[in-house]
Amino acid sequence: MGRRDKLLRKVAKRRLASMQRHVLICVDDDCGRKLLKHFRKAIDTAGLRATASLTKVQCFGICTSGPIVVVYPEGTWYAGVTPAVAHKIVEEHLRDGRPLDSHVFHRNPLCPVRRVADSA
Ligand code: FES
Repeated sequence: MGRRDKLLRKVAKRRLASMQRHVLICVDDDCGRKLLKHFRKAIDTAGLRATASLTKVQCFGICTSGPIVVVYPEGTWYAGVTPAVAHKIVEEHLRDGRPLDSHVFHRNPLCPVRRVADSA
């Protein structure tokens, strides 16, 4: 199998074609590592496996009030993400499109988010 074929298999395995939100989770401490399973479970429960992708990040350089989680494409930065907060982020932000303001400390989409109304 060639290099490109391997890449395409990974693209399919990670469901990149259907991904709508990418969740980056700092796992540089035990707390962040434990958070991964809560995000996975909440995403499964919400039926979002095809559209939400999780990626472990070693450190965002914030290193206070963690665990830190970032959701793209909105560029929503969350602090103090407990397992209960992780479930709320999945239900309210990933599923319903409403960021969980109580834990947001920064917002910075890396490019403008295209609204449905803009493309009509
Ligand atoms: S250890 Fe989590 S942001 Fe640095």
